[in-house]
Amino acid sequence: MAFPTETVYGLGANALNEKAAAKVFAAKKRPAFDPLIVHIGDKEAASQYVTALDKRAWQLMDTFWPGALTLVLPKRPIIPALVTAGLGTVALRMPSHPVALALLRAVDFPIAAPSANPFGYVSPTTARHVRDSLGDEVGLIIDGGPCPVGVESTVCALTEPQAVLLRPGGVTLEQIESVIGPVRMGEPTQTDRRSPGTLLSHYAPRVPVLLLKPGAALPQPKAGERLGLLSLAPRSDARGYTRTEVLSADGNLLDAAAHLFAALRRLDAAGLDRVVIESVPETGIGRAIMDRLRRAAARD
Ligand code: TXA
Ligand code: MG
Repeated sequence: MAFPTETVYGLGANALNEKAAAKVFAAKKRPAFDPLIVHIGDKEAASQYVTALDKRAWQLMDTFWPGALTLVLPKRPIIPALVTAGLGTVALRMPSHPVALALLRAVDFPIAAPSANPFGYVSPTTARHVRDSLGDEVGLIIDGGPCPVGVESTVCALTEPQAVLLRPGGVTLEQIESVIGPVRMGEPTQTDRRSPGTLLSHYAPRVPVLLLKPGAALPQPKAGERLGLLSLAPRSDARGYTRTEVLSADGNLLDAAAHLFAALRRLDAAGLDRVVIESVPETGIGRAIMDRLRRAAARD
């Protein structure tokens, strides 16, 4: 079953039921080494699934839950090994979307849910996106409209004395650091088993992507070349481009995040030779946007 959250749509299963979780891996063609996020409907439920909730964890939960922050903590045995890909930790999140919260509170188990897209592809921010790329695999899609945040949750590990940012997302690094102080950046590598979702090529459209350096001039299309453009704000120099997508009328990064994945999907469906993407400032949610754009541009 797919359901809306404030970040992206999730493909949910009972997180305490190994067979149900296995179906999620199969539907997404997700490799078994990539663990799922476990969603809960109440902060208090967290202590049923993790062994240690220290002061930092409570400060972050009290500040950002419900919301787009996922915390990686030492797990209790009740969470099946399949869900956490055999790791000794579990990723926990309490979403703020009213439909997700209602769902979580209507059932008596936590819900393991990755983004509802085939492994490696762009995450869905509408019910239609889920149907388009996973339709045959999903029995039920709850349509809650477009996801307001538009990029996935921030994943932050609290398993070491210093917190580690494993994936930038809807809650910004600046926001987290204002609550618990300096956070170390996790290295995005092909081999880091702590957060397999940090695989370099991920969130990737099928069309080749060229990510422009900040301030770089737009390349001009060659004769007959079908180029697409994804820009933060409107620009007047996109002559000869077959298709352009503007993320925000006034360059607002929150708007841009909310529109990012739908724009990437439209460009991917437009039969283009290549998509040129403008860099955005790497502050606030711009960090999550640039992270997804770099992955979209990376090819294995
Ligand atoms: O916004 C979101 O987080 C969405 C919605 C549906 O909640 N979910 C989502 O799930 O993006 P998914 O599976 O696409 O990404 C989960 C990320 C992956 O990068 C995964 O490697 C990481 O969280 N993760 C999960 N469990 C982990 C663990 N125990 N340790 C480290 N990283 C973990
Ligand atoms: Mg995903």
